[in-house]
Amino acid sequence: MDKFVIRGGNPLLGTIKISGAKNSALPCMAAAILTEDEVILENIPQVRDIETERKLLESMGAEVELGYGRAQHRTSIKCAVLSDPVAKYEIVKTMRASSLVLGPLIARTGMARVAMPGGCNIGGRPIDLHIKGLESMGAVITYDHGYLEARSPNDGRSQLKGAHIVFDKITVTGTEDLLMAAALADGESLFENCAREPEVTDLAAMLIAMGAKIEGAGTSTIKITGVSKLHGARHRINPDRIEAGTFLIAGAITGGDLNVDCLNPEHLGSLLSKLQECGVKLEVGKDAIRVRSEGAASLKAADITTEEYPGFPTDMQAQFMALLTQCEGTSNVTENIFENRFMHVGELNRMGANITVAGRTATVRGGTKLQSAAVMCSDLRASAALVLAALVADGESILDRVYHMDRGYERMEEKLRGVGAQIRRMGEVFGKK
Ligand code: UD1
Repeated sequence: MDKFVIRGGNPLLGTIKISGAKNSALPCMAAAILTEDEVILENIPQVRDIETERKLLESMGAEVELGYGRAQHRTSIKCAVLSDPVAKYEIVKTMRASSLVLGPLIARTGMARVAMPGGCNIGGRPIDLHIKGLESMGAVITYDHGYLEARSPNDGRSQLKGAHIVFDKITVTGTEDLLMAAALADGESLFENCAREPEVTDLAAMLIAMGAKIEGAGTSTIKITGVSKLHGARHRINPDRIEAGTFLIAGAITGGDLNVDCLNPEHLGSLLSKLQECGVKLEVGKDAIRVRSEGAASLKAADITTEEYPGFPTDMQAQFMALLTQCEGTSNVTENIFENRFMHVGELNRMGANITVAGRTATVRGGTKLQSAAVMCSDLRASAALVLAALVADGESILDRVYHMDRGYERMEEKLRGVGAQIRRMGEVFGKK
């Protein structure tokens, strides 16, 4: 299993480029199921979850071509024939977002068989809202040996029907899954209490390019008028706001001067205000942000509460907590989205942080000097928090199980090395067995 070896203490200096958003790319790849034509996606990040989705689509009969050389971030997908509309457990168990194929499969083929998902180890993560929504659209759902089977009305022979759905809880992939289903449904759908995340808007833009009729994506009410057929399209994936946020914190925590390039500042509002509250200096450009700080001595505490977009993202909570360990004063971090998302706390404390957890709130007594240690990555964003902590820790840290990181960060160690971090990968090379 790969490990990262990180020697802390170097301020990060220079320019770092942000890749395309994994969480946009995943639903956009699933949307290719909705048409028999070729779909071309640009700015696809080269991360393990994308590789998993490629395998998933291919296992159903899709042709997926990954670009190489200068076109390495382009992918073309053609689902001319979906001979086997099944998302198998061996693939789904490593990535919860596999449930994103559920809606498009039923909409296109009238049936889907999807293994119940696994994914990040951050709580129960049910998909009941996806299922409830599909049932409102006329799907019949049954369960069989760990698999969920869904058929459109009339035993898979008729289209799904448009529906009025009010989500009990805001769900990102739930909104996306049902948006894809509704695009090919018979009649009009009205969704309320939708997720407003930029990834939903990105997917909607792609669906519209494919011929879908969607209004209101990016707001909490979305209206979809179903069409009988969608066609091929070319779509460019948004920059990854979570990768961008992680590197902004890397610049701040190391007392660096970093230009984080190829991002969309509009997607980073809540994070940028919290960084400023901590005393981090930001120069926000059109598609780049320069981040500067004098390091620990200049940083001060701030409270964060995770919320749905445009609130503070749960996917930045762990990384921001790493920063708060270096801020003078006491900060409270409240996690409202997932019930088990403090697994990084124990590892940060092993590195010398002073964090206590009571229910959904972690209290960080900041301004502690971090020490290097051997630590274990437990999920994707927790891993990123440990990298950030190791970048300022005294001495050499070893991070085990960085495969969690490889799920969502493209060549993280190379990008960080390029701006002066002392980080290397030990063990097998990503992509090889
Ligand atoms: C997506 C992101 C993930 C991010 C999360 C919250 C992708 C691939 N992943 O995950 O990185 O952390 O949004 O911003 O885009 N819930 C239910 N029933 C459901 C669905 C969700 O109760 O059917 C609950 C979840 O347990 C959680 C909350 O709703 O407490 C939000 O989850 P959701 O927005 O669905 O997260 P994901 O879409 O899985």
